[in-house]
Formats: sequence, C-alpha cells, structure tokens
Amino acid sequence: MTAQIIDGKQVAAEMRAELKEKVAKLKTQNIVPGLAVVLVGEDPASQSYVTAKEKACEEIGIYSNDNRLPAETSEEDLLALVDKLNKDPKIHGILVQLPLPKHINEDKVLLAIDPAKDVDGFHPANVGKMVVGQDAFLPCTPHGIIQLLIRSKVKLEGAEVVIVGRSNIVGKPIANMLIQKAPTGNATVTVCHTRTKNMAEHVKRADIIIAAAGRPNTITADMVKDGAVVIDVGVNRVEDATKKRGYRLVGDVDFEAVKEKASLITPVPGGVGPMTITMLLYNTVRSAEKTLNS
Ligand code: GUN
Repeated sequence: MTAQIIDGKQVAAEMRAELKEKVAKLKTQNIVPGLAVVLVGEDPASQSYVTAKEKACEEIGIYSNDNRLPAETSEEDLLALVDKLNKDPKIHGILVQLPLPKHINEDKVLLAIDPAKDVDGFHPANVGKMVVGQDAFLPCTPHGIIQLLIRSKVKLEGAEVVIVGRSNIVGKPIANMLIQKAPTGNATVTVCHTRTKNMAEHVKRADIIIAAAGRPNTITADMVKDGAVVIDVGVNRVEDATKKRGYRLVGDVDFEAVKEKASLITPVPGGVGPMTITMLLYNTVRSAEKTLNS
C-alpha cells in the first residue's frame, strides 16, 4: 500500500480562509483580534516559528504585537511584560515562545499569563479544564492534529492510538484529548516514552501512530501495521550540504519507507506544522469573539 499524503497546507488554507471571514466580521463590530508574541533569545528554530506565526496573523487580519527580547532578559522583566500584555485591551492572545533561557522559570511565566488570553493552552487552568472536558483553549499542535484526522475522515472512535513522546506540548495533551468522551475522542490510547519497554511492540498495534519524540527515524517501517495512519509531529534539522541553508527538515518518521505501509501519512514539512499555526489563529479569534459576550 502506498499512503495518501495528508496535506496540512491545504487543510490549513481552508481553515484560515474561514478565520479570515470571522476576522472581517469582528472588524465590523470594531474588534481587531490581537496576538502578542514574546520571544526571548536568538534560538534560530524559535525565531523562524515566531516569524511564521506573525506572518500568518497579518495574512488573516489579526494585529500582531512583536516582542523580541535579548537572551539575558531577567525573569522579572519578562513577568512585567506579561502583566502589561494581560492588561492591554488590544491583546486577546499572548504567546511566550518556549523553550525559555535556563535562568527563567518557565512554569512561573506560563502561570502569569491570564488564562483568558492563554491561546497556547499551556496555563494549568486551561490544562485542567481540558482534562476534565470543560470548555478551554486547547493547545495548538494537538488540536491541529485532531483537525487533520477529522478532516481526513479518520475514524477515532475505538481506534488504537499509539503516541510516542510525553511532552507537555504534544504527547500529554493529545493523549487526553483522544480519550475524551466526544466525537473528537473515544480512542484507546497508549503513550510511549523513553522508559517504555519494547516500544516497537506497542507501535505495531496502532491504527493511528502519533510520533512526537523529537528524533529522526524513531518510527521505522517494520513498526508500522499495514494501513495505519501516521502523524509525524517531529521537526528535526539534519545537515545537508546540498541545501543553501546547510540543513533540511525531517520528522520523526522514516517517511520514504513508512509511506509504503501506511494508508495516510503527514509529510514534514507541510503536515502538522501549518496546522499548529492555524489553531493559534483560531484560538486568538475565539478569544476576541468572547469579548463580545463579556
Ligand atoms: N515551542 C514549541 N512549540 C510551541 C508552541 O506551540 N507554543 C509555544 N509557545 N512555544 C512552543
């Protein structure tokens, strides 16, 4: 079997067109959704993510407020900026790009963001609501994956899902979302991690594999059941002298071999990545819409 490619760029473009209309409608009610992006330091991958997020905002008419701070910024100064953004009525969403430099306590910063502006869905109040199935901002990458699966007509109810990776950003939240008693859940979920014994045996059982380990070739063809759906969340830079920038991006899945066994597969780039940004736009628009009813 050769897999059909799940085109994240295409799904993202459809959703962004819907969001653009919502933004235009909000503007007729004198509301311009605003997203503040905060980046501390010069990590090249973070810089390119943040630039892509800001560009996507502008494309659909969201006001983007750019805050790029030097790596030596103190925790106190960062908390003061978050406080200022919490109070700014033009800002409906706040995103502090992770990871933060080591001298800053990430948990403390995430806790300082107003949960009503936490469009990343990382504040413990939103995480808790998500776990108990209450209305909350959902974290963007897992929410984007669920949208990709649903819009590709993948059956989630009763599906055996194996997630590889237990990060707070992807593994833990998507496991929670997929076990919810809801049309976007109802799956049977296994989470594998660095201490899992015999990961391959778990992955071989999966109807849906979600690879979020952050390591190339974590999922090889011998681990994949015929016809499985494979979602690759990895974004890894590998050296490539044939490229002008000296590297190319690969996921966590051995794409060329695995696509011969899977029924559906996401590429890297062009799979999950565009959906992450789209769900950030979605949460920001939703946050702005909520101010209409408050
Ligand atoms: N770093 C990697 N992914 C993300 C994300 O979705 N949001 C933030 N804030 N930082 C990240």
